[in-house]
This record gives sequence, C-alpha cells and structure tokens, in this order.
Amino acid sequence: MVYLDNAATTLQKPPAVYRAVISAMKRMASPGRGGHKPAMLAAETAFACRQAAAELFHLEDPECVVFTLNATHALNLAIKSVVKPGDRVVVSGYEHNAVTRPLTALGCDIQVARSPLFDREAILAEFDRLVTPQTACVVCTHVSNVFGFILPVEEISGLCARRGVPFILDASQSAGALPVHMDALDAAFICMPGHKGLYGPQGTGLLLCGRDRKTDTLLEGGTGSLSARQDMPDFLPDRLEAGTHNVPGIAGLLEGIRFIRGRGEETILRHEQALMAVAIRGLRTIPGVTLYDALRPELQAGVLSFTVADMDCEAVGEALGARDVAVRAGLHCAPYAHESAGTLRSGTVRASFSEFNTADQAKRLVAEVARLVG
Ligand code: ALA
Repeated sequence: MVYLDNAATTLQKPPAVYRAVISAMKRMASPGRGGHKPAMLAAETAFACRQAAAELFHLEDPECVVFTLNATHALNLAIKSVVKPGDRVVVSGYEHNAVTRPLTALGCDIQVARSPLFDREAILAEFDRLVTPQTACVVCTHVSNVFGFILPVEEISGLCARRGVPFILDASQSAGALPVHMDALDAAFICMPGHKGLYGPQGTGLLLCGRDRKTDTLLEGGTGSLSARQDMPDFLPDRLEAGTHNVPGIAGLLEGIRFIRGRGEETILRHEQALMAVAIRGLRTIPGVTLYDALRPELQAGVLSFTVADMDCEAVGEALGARDVAVRAGLHCAPYAHESAGTLRSGTVRASFSEFNTADQAKRLVAEVARLVG
C-alpha cells in the first residue's frame, strides 16, 4: 500500500510510538488519581509530553499545554473561549469546517479574507482591510489542508497584535513540519492534532494556551484536583481536562514529538516537498491532469491537489485506492479553500506526504494516474 493521505492522519508512525502505546496500556493508570505506581507513571508521562510540546512550540509553561481529542476539539475550546454569539470574526479563505462550523453555530458574523491560491501578499492585504479593533478574533490556518498553501501567519498575527485582536492559529497541517512558535506568534491559542505531523495516535490533539488567556470549558467533571468544589478549577491544564485521560495516546504522542525534535521540522518539510516535486514533475506530463501547485515551491507544504479531466474526483480516489494508492478526494471538509481556488464544484484529488514516504511511492502515484487516464 502506498499511503498518501497523511493530511488526514499519518498511518505509519515511528516504531517508538507503537511501543509506547502498548507499554502504557499495560503499565499506566489515571494521572493525578492516585499515589500508586501506575498512576504516578501516567502522571510523569503526561507531564513529559506537555514539557516536550512546550519545548517544541516555545511555550514557557508546560501547564499551558492541554490534551484534547483532536484539532477540532482544541479549536472548539479556543473559539468558544474567545468568541461570543454574534461576534465579528475574520478568517482566511482556506479554513476547515473545524473552524467555520463552530463560528457558524455561535451565530458569528464571519468575514473571509479571500485571496487567489498561493498569493501571500493578497491574503495579507485582505486581513489588513478586514481586521479592525471591533474584530473579536482572527482564526487562521497555517497550511491549507487541501492545497498545502503556507499562509503568512507571522505577519497576520503581528497585524492582530498591533490592533489588539486575539489570534487563534490552526496548526493542523503545519505542526511537525514547520516551526510553530508560541512566543513569536503571541497567539491566544494554537490548536493541532497529535495524529498527523506529530505522529501520535488518533484520539490525540493539543491546545496551546497563550499567556493569561481566559478559557471556557466544554466539558465539566473530575480532574483529581479541588475535588470538594463543584465548579471547575480555574487553573490549567485541569480546567480543560475533565475525565480520564487518553494515557496510551499521550504516551505515543510523547514519542512522536521526540521523533520530530530528533529529526527537525526543516528536514521533514524538505523531504515532503521533495517527494511532492517528484509527483508534480510526473503528473504534469499526463494529459488532462490539472495541478494546483505553487509557482514558488517554498509556498507549499507537502500537500498536493489535482483533478483529472472528465473524471469525477471521488471516482479517481476510489480507482487509486483499488490499486493500493491511498489518497483523499472531494472537498476535504474545506469549502472555503475550494471557493478560493475555483474548485468548489469539482473538488480535488489530494496526495499528502509524510516523512515515511519515498520517491518510489510518489512515482507509483504518477504511474497509477497515468494508467487511469490511458
Ligand atoms: N482535516 C483532515 C483532512 O484534511 C481530516 O483530511
């Protein structure tokens, strides 16, 4: 199987991740819920994971690293902590439904900073036009999950800071492949999955909380702290972590983060971009294939969308799957991105690369698309 659906979740993980999950299931109990060895081991592992994440993402305080189920959970916590019903919120024209659906549910006035694909200057100009001191919040993805477009989030967060507007970053497609620095971005919150570029198991995600951020709960329940009180603790991470933790997931995520720190984000990104370049070179030679790639490759992380003339995207995805090449096809839960790129009606076929893919696998994708067309 050639697995090229890493933007959905990475399937192949570093071996240490699998080992850590199994070991945690056998040896660890509930962190903060007992003085016995299995509980202590779980607590130490959870803290080590917070610490490793704080170091990777440049947070001073590991307690500001909150464990979530996934990026959607983290985004809901962040958005619902900052945004109130009816607020005006500015988002990019590349957001995922994980951002736009919670905003819609809150009845927000959503203003969209639209721009042509891969045009950093145009999107920055749109944010500049739309963000005012009346804006309650800006939510922006770092990398488009459909097109791999790397948005100028440092400049967007700087603009927000100058106008006193909280900034929430969706790092779903960048964490593990691009530098994500809380101290440089000064974000209110940064949200990410643990199971994509951080190579942790599914069911893991992280919410990174900026300095002194007020947080609202989505769930209330036991935390193992201040148990005599009926309201949730007001300190992190307990305030946002009600109920038993996903300890095997956290143990796996810790190893995933260690892998990233050992390999380095830059090396990983370069590898993914090199494989994407192999796919682009090959797919470009196939009649009827339209590629949505950046003219300047440094603007695109390892996510590549394409369409095949006269063929439905879902049919292409299914046909490739039947030939053991796993890609994703359709709208990828991101209709705004397709509006920006002009692919809302067709959708796209998406190949997304990871550190564990090879050039031969990128060539195999090309060969299978050529077979389909020919
Ligand atoms: N958001 C994930 C994707 O793009 C699931 O596939």
